[in-house]
Amino acid sequence: MLLGSGGREDALAWRLRQSPSCGRLVAAPGNPGIERWAECVDIDPANPEAVVALAQKEQVELVVIGPEAPLTAGVADALRAHGIAVFGPSAAAAQLEGSKGFTKDLCTSHNIPTAAYVRTETAADAREALDGFALPVVIKADGLAAGKGVTIAMTRAEAEEAIAAAGDTALVIEEFLEGEEASLFVLADGGHTLVLASAQDHKRVGDGDTGPNTGGMGAYSPAPILTPELEERAMAEIVRPTALAMAASGMPFNGILYAGLMLTRDGPKLIEYNVRFGDPECEAIMPRIAGDFAETLALVAAGRMDEIGTIDLEPASTMTVIVAAKGYPGTPSKGGSISGLDEAEEDGAIVFQAGTTEQDGRLVASGGRVLAVTAAGETLRDARDAVYAAIAKIDFADGFHRGDIGWRELERLQQ
Ligand code: AMP
Ligand code: GLY
Repeated sequence: MLLGSGGREDALAWRLRQSPSCGRLVAAPGNPGIERWAECVDIDPANPEAVVALAQKEQVELVVIGPEAPLTAGVADALRAHGIAVFGPSAAAAQLEGSKGFTKDLCTSHNIPTAAYVRTETAADAREALDGFALPVVIKADGLAAGKGVTIAMTRAEAEEAIAAAGDTALVIEEFLEGEEASLFVLADGGHTLVLASAQDHKRVGDGDTGPNTGGMGAYSPAPILTPELEERAMAEIVRPTALAMAASGMPFNGILYAGLMLTRDGPKLIEYNVRFGDPECEAIMPRIAGDFAETLALVAAGRMDEIGTIDLEPASTMTVIVAAKGYPGTPSKGGSISGLDEAEEDGAIVFQAGTTEQDGRLVASGGRVLAVTAAGETLRDARDAVYAAIAKIDFADGFHRGDIGWRELERLQQ
């Protein structure tokens, strides 16, 4: 059983359904895209009792949790308490994403490289803390904010404005890190960790990384900038110490740990953790995974990761481009009709569905990020050409997408 209803879950469902060990897939609540691979049941995935009841009724052997809300709500704990195998961390371990302050303090006590920071509780404290930082300075809400709770203030006035807008609430004020970002996705079952894949997201809404932050407008995998040496450094200095610290404090992390890294002049530093797959990074990663992925996740859930061996990744490169509804990340326009998806998939691309619904037998937009169009190739350039060729076949007048996903890496390839 898979929990969630976005593009990430469509990609997970697609991958799980192709796993030889997956006989049947139930999705809760799912979406019209996921319905191609799973039986969708409309329950609230963040309601522990409802999820346990459905898992028992359907006699599921493994629950895979897609989004963060069920995790912070304790859905994994409830399932484990009923003896149901689950891929996803406990509410306590999900604090790695749910509380930026928790993660920053863990970094301090275990010498994990991250931006220097101060935690504050009131606006007055926060204003005072600004004195200790150069500009630009980064101001973050402590809790979950769907990637939108971060301000990078270029001036003191902007910083004070962000603090005033937040009011008397828990904030983390931190040093601005310079470098390029990369994401590392690591399977963890408490003690063991195993790299699944790297990716790079594009968080700004506009071409050239301009405009407001979004949940992510496109991604590619792997992220070659995270070289094998840097990846091993990130594992040794950041991810493994985190997994060991969590286990030692009685909060073993089970699931996928997503490390958002800044590759600085001094090496990789942790920007943030997420306790679930990234969206749209997951859509880019799933087509690269060979073998029985459901079996892999079942071994993680069982704490038997040492039996996984290696994870085979193919093909060479994948890219996902998000098609969003006009207005996103503000108020997206709803109800725009979508067609041409079969044509878009004719040459091997896959159109995962993120914010769609069916209305009178037609597919229409129902969210900010609507489609996650994904293609693979020998090189990143091939993947890029294939994904944009697929998008050109989609008829969605109310949508828009970035035209430059992968630009930093594509520029490097030109050099
Ligand atoms: P977060 O929600 O912590 O991932 O922050 C969202 C985005 O803000 C990150 O993906 C970065 O692009 C940027 N960001 C966050 N913290 C920093 C930092 N300390 N220095 C530079 N950029 C940051
Ligand atoms: N794409 C960023 C995230 O899932 O948080």
